[in-house]
Amino acid sequence: MISRKEFMRRRRQLIRMMGRGSIAIIPAAPVRPRNRDVEYPYRPDSDFQYMTGFGEPEAVAVLIPGRDHGEYLLFCRERDPKMETWTGRRAGTQGAVELYDADDAFPIGDIDEILPGLLESCDRVFYTMGSHPDFDRHVLDWVKRIREGARSGLRAPDEFVSLEHLLHDMRLYKSRSEIRVMRGAAKVACRAHRRAMQACRPGRHEFEIEAELLHEFRHANMQPAYPCIVGGGENGCILHYTDNRAVLRDGDLLLIDAGAEYDCYASDVTRTFPVNGRFSPPQRALYEVVLAAQAAAIRQVQPGNDWNAPHAAAIKVLTRGLVKLGILKGRSADLIRNEAYRRFYMHRTGHWLGMDVHDVGDYKVGGEWRVLEPGMVLTVEPGIYIPEGSRGVAKKWWNIGIRIEDDVLVTNDGHEVFSVDAPKSVSEIEALMGENR
Ligand code: GLY
Ligand code: MN
Ligand code: MN
Repeated sequence: MISRKEFMRRRRQLIRMMGRGSIAIIPAAPVRPRNRDVEYPYRPDSDFQYMTGFGEPEAVAVLIPGRDHGEYLLFCRERDPKMETWTGRRAGTQGAVELYDADDAFPIGDIDEILPGLLESCDRVFYTMGSHPDFDRHVLDWVKRIREGARSGLRAPDEFVSLEHLLHDMRLYKSRSEIRVMRGAAKVACRAHRRAMQACRPGRHEFEIEAELLHEFRHANMQPAYPCIVGGGENGCILHYTDNRAVLRDGDLLLIDAGAEYDCYASDVTRTFPVNGRFSPPQRALYEVVLAAQAAAIRQVQPGNDWNAPHAAAIKVLTRGLVKLGILKGRSADLIRNEAYRRFYMHRTGHWLGMDVHDVGDYKVGGEWRVLEPGMVLTVEPGIYIPEGSRGVAKKWWNIGIRIEDDVLVTNDGHEVFSVDAPKSVSEIEALMGENR
């Protein structure tokens, strides 16, 4: 859990960086309809959640550095016993102050009346355009109203700044409690991967294995951080496969990319293993290449190295391995330079991880790859994908899709892998899958 104190600290930090004369407007995510009278499960907007910890929809946080009557305002739904009987409890404006530390809180229905007045006294507006298009229109409308009042002496803010620059840089560096939460999410993801390995048998369906993953997530009061990818054989070669309907066949590999979300923080873990519990010689040969590439990439996760170092290490090992197995032909150095490996490895080796699976934060600064610093969390996820019919590639390699993905924290003196509890060496996987068979 992220404490109230930490949310306060975040707001104080943002307020300090914004400076006087400015205002930040951060809306909650809207509720999204799924079908008639049914809504998708509510997921707070990550920026809003990061700043407030307030989990309700129909809310807007406003920060005004130096405001005499309080710097943090929260617009939210009012208490309404009748509505709460249908849709659940609400904090109300009193709860917003008492439980969520707002300096002042107002009913969301009054925002049209109140916000233009707040904007009027500011020069600079921090707001992220494009995330919630309906809300963008409100913001533009409020500014327009002030401009229209120019003749009666109103002055509209003249500077619009994207809030992302400040907020997303804060989110890139994880605090001690964020790290604790992320470790917890990865731990449950690993438990789910182990359970999937133990449950897997030829003849079962991909969705049955997905059910095992969800069982572990929900038992820990977590949910999938993204739709589970459970792809047997050729489906393992589809990077974002989520159909999960096929029967698992003896002799195929199964690729599972599944992460749990805990308190709005994601884990993102991939394991690939044989459906029948034993790797065939070609599967094993390719698997060892991906595993070695992943180990080489993880070794590069060190403070002071740049963002691209793990990727560069992975493609070196992958390319050399593919040449050794006769799948790529030529000199490794040339094949790396002309990116020949991309036919079998078409994605990058990772991404930032945090409240969003593909988390926020710039990958380049001033045109150069970003330098890794303690507190950053990234995934390391090399793979090889050889679909059926791959021309010029011997048949024994077809329908092999392999990815191995872990969640890695940059520490003061190296790194910490959060997702260590899911087996990934050939011997560990075969040992776990060999139990009780
Ligand atoms: N699960 C999505 C990814 O690995 O990027
Ligand atoms: Mn990933
Ligand atoms: Mn993944």
